[in-house]
Amino acid sequence: MSRPAGPLRSTGPRDTAGDGGRSAGTAVPPDGTAAARVEGATKVYGSGDAAVRALDGVSVGFPAGRFTAIMGPSGSGKSTLMHCAAGLDTLTSGAAYIGGTELGSLGDRQLTLLRRERIGFVFQSFNLVPTLTVAENITLPIDLAGRRPDREWVEALVDVVGLGERLLHRPGELSGGQQQRVAVARALAGRPDVVFADEPTGNLDSRSGGEVLDLLGRAVRDMGRTVVMVTHDPGAAAHADEVVFLADGRLVDRMTAPTAGRVLDRMKAFDGRRQDHPAGPRDGGGDRRRGGAPA
Ligand SMILES: Nc1ncnc2c1ncn2[C@@H]1O[C@H](COP(=O)(O)OP(=O)(O)O)[C@@H](O)[C@H]1O
Ligand SMILES: [Mg+2]
Repeated sequence: MSRPAGPLRSTGPRDTAGDGGRSAGTAVPPDGTAAARVEGATKVYGSGDAAVRALDGVSVGFPAGRFTAIMGPSGSGKSTLMHCAAGLDTLTSGAAYIGGTELGSLGDRQLTLLRRERIGFVFQSFNLVPTLTVAENITLPIDLAGRRPDREWVEALVDVVGLGERLLHRPGELSGGQQQRVAVARALAGRPDVVFADEPTGNLDSRSGGEVLDLLGRAVRDMGRTVVMVTHDPGAAAHADEVVFLADGRLVDRMTAPTAGRVLDRMKAFDGRRQDHPAGPRDGGGDRRRGGAPA
């Protein structure tokens, strides 16, 4: 078991993984160690004839210390699941938990604090603050929370993302891939229990995307974090320890030790009509198709 020593291996009080001995390819931790999970998650947008059932009774856990990808066709509910699991949106029925905390039991302020202290976010569009430097962007969530940054941890993070030379630059002076690496560092800076990433490589070329995926993988393997990533790219999903598949708002399959080829095969089985457009330019549009139960 060769695990690098140093700050990235040190685990804070909120490290719920507790499986520091995990190495790639070992079994999923036993039940009860989900860093995040939803039970019977249902989300209906709108009402009456316009109602869209974006999630339809999904129960799924995201094990601590693991990298899980959420896959499915455009409109299958991936972003909705992530947003509800991360406390960015509320369920119509069912429950979402971060560790042992049920999000629905929290008031607005408590929910804001939980998101700030226990969750990191990475979005497709980077969402860096243009007027702040790279260094300031990375520590922004910690600063907003009024917490003192763990210098050693942040310095190690900067090292891992490989942007030490760029700390005083503004996001506009960086490439898309570099910006997204800053966003990943920002998401990790406060040592969150879970990092949720929605299509983090959606705006990147394949090389930059690969760097971001490697970084997310290292966050799990070398830093003991938990990552949940929405993607519709089989190649991206192959970086995860496990893939969960959504179709039409339902959990339809799970796959451990995924490869791009196996994920692609599984995706094709959902809906042959989609094969011409497996990855639309903007995911999550209103093109959700009804009927046609998943294979
Ligand atoms: N705010 C919203 N209002 C109404 N419908 C929405 C809203 N957000 C998502 N939907 C619908 O819910 C379904 C699932 O969307 P989404 O979770 O974004 O899918 P995915 O991320 O898998 O592409 C889609 O039919 C989408 O049009
Ligand atoms: Mg989406």
